[in-house]
Amino acid sequence: MSQVVLLRPGYSTVGFVPNLIPELLQSTDSSPLSPDESLMHVAILQAMQALSRARPNPGVGCAVQLGEAVVAFGATEKYRLRHAERVAFDSLGGEFPKESTVATTLEPCAKHGNQPPCLELFREGIVDRVLVGFIDPDTRTRGKSVRALMTQGTEVRVGVLGKECAAMQLPFIVAMGRKEPFIALKWAETKDRHLFHPDHRDTRLRITGPRTDIFSHRLRQRYDAIVIGANTWIQDRPSLTARHALLPDLRQPLRVIIDPKNLLSHLPDLPERFSDLSPPWILLGGERSPPGRLPPGVHYSTLPGNLDSDSVIHAIQEAAKTLGQSIQSVLIEGGPGLLGIFLKSHLFDVVHRLRSKAAQVGRLNPDFLEINRSVRLSSMDLGDDLLDEFISPELWLKVEELQSIAQPLG
Ligand SMILES: NC(=O)c1ccc[n+]([C@@H]2O[C@H](COP(=O)([O-])OP(=O)(O)OC[C@H]3O[C@@H](n4cnc5c(N)ncnc54)[C@H](OP(=O)(O)O)[C@@H]3O)[C@@H](O)[C@H]2O)c1
Repeated sequence: MSQVVLLRPGYSTVGFVPNLIPELLQSTDSSPLSPDESLMHVAILQAMQALSRARPNPGVGCAVQLGEAVVAFGATEKYRLRHAERVAFDSLGGEFPKESTVATTLEPCAKHGNQPPCLELFREGIVDRVLVGFIDPDTRTRGKSVRALMTQGTEVRVGVLGKECAAMQLPFIVAMGRKEPFIALKWAETKDRHLFHPDHRDTRLRITGPRTDIFSHRLRQRYDAIVIGANTWIQDRPSLTARHALLPDLRQPLRVIIDPKNLLSHLPDLPERFSDLSPPWILLGGERSPPGRLPPGVHYSTLPGNLDSDSVIHAIQEAAKTLGQSIQSVLIEGGPGLLGIFLKSHLFDVVHRLRSKAAQVGRLNPDFLEINRSVRLSSMDLGDDLLDEFISPELWLKVEELQSIAQPLG
């Protein structure tokens, strides 16, 4: 596995982590940013605010500079509402200042959708320079806005903190190229690589520290659905909601339990176990012995007989449709049984791995989860724990392809 870390220190799939955990600001060993990168960094901080509410649109950030001062910024509003550039533009009274520089984490859109194209905000001869983090993977834009801006004589720089901007848009990049959802795997392991205490399975093992919870809960807010295995639900009964580092207009993810052997149906107190957990939940069980009594808000569907990671994802999509939801991204949160199935079949786009620096069982886990065929995207010390994010080589290739579209343009 490659040891190269693709993102700059501090940046991750949810943006700049020290912005979530300020104690990390001092320990993040980062090279100084250029003036253009500093402006893009402000835009990235804005984009972080939009990651939940903008779904299935990309959460984009925009920052406007005049002389030395940042005079406006904006983040994508709720789905169907204003895009980041328009929010910044409107806050300036409906015009960008003459000779300003506008940084946007994603190329301004060129298409008429729920909103008019952002491209039309950049009238000829007003803005001096436009900084673009990443080319819009949507074929209705994909380089068109950059080209149009250059044709009208505006200076455009593409790829400013480009990888860092792309890392925040990975589910959107996937959605623009394939119909299956983006798949992220996430787990926390002890220093000796256990996900639970093998000798005390009925006691929940505390692995990560409170700062890591902040990151984990922000992570939950960027996905459409969170998925766990039946054993995890029975043993831990996690609520799977996002409760820390809450974003404005938060959309809680849909929660899904995979239970091919219908282990839940054998629990005599099943309805009571759900009673203090807010709905809705999707329970995907085997064809035999579905639970007789389910509380309102728990939707039951059957899994196919020939169970593999592909069919699990398909079943999640179908079940979500019955709730009127479309699933563009899923976060598989464990346990090791379920995660192992996805790792073995290489069916993942990204892995978020948290490893404790202190918590340990006392012996190495012989069955530790191995991440093969992937590239290290980010790596950082969160204080109590180490965060490593990995990306599949196929997805990284896609990112590079999109970046290369920008080269002849910018
Ligand atoms: N540290 C962490 O990040 C973390 C996260 C979550 C959970 N955990 C811990 O993990 C433990 C539970 O883990 P676990 O491995 O026992 O169970 P699990 O991952 O919660 O459940 C495994 C699930 O995968 C199902 N499965 C088996 N084969 C499958 C296939 N081919 N396709 C799809 N699904 C399939 C299993 O069904 P069958 O019933 O048919 O086997 C079961 O429902 C708990 O102690 C929990 O605390 C730790």
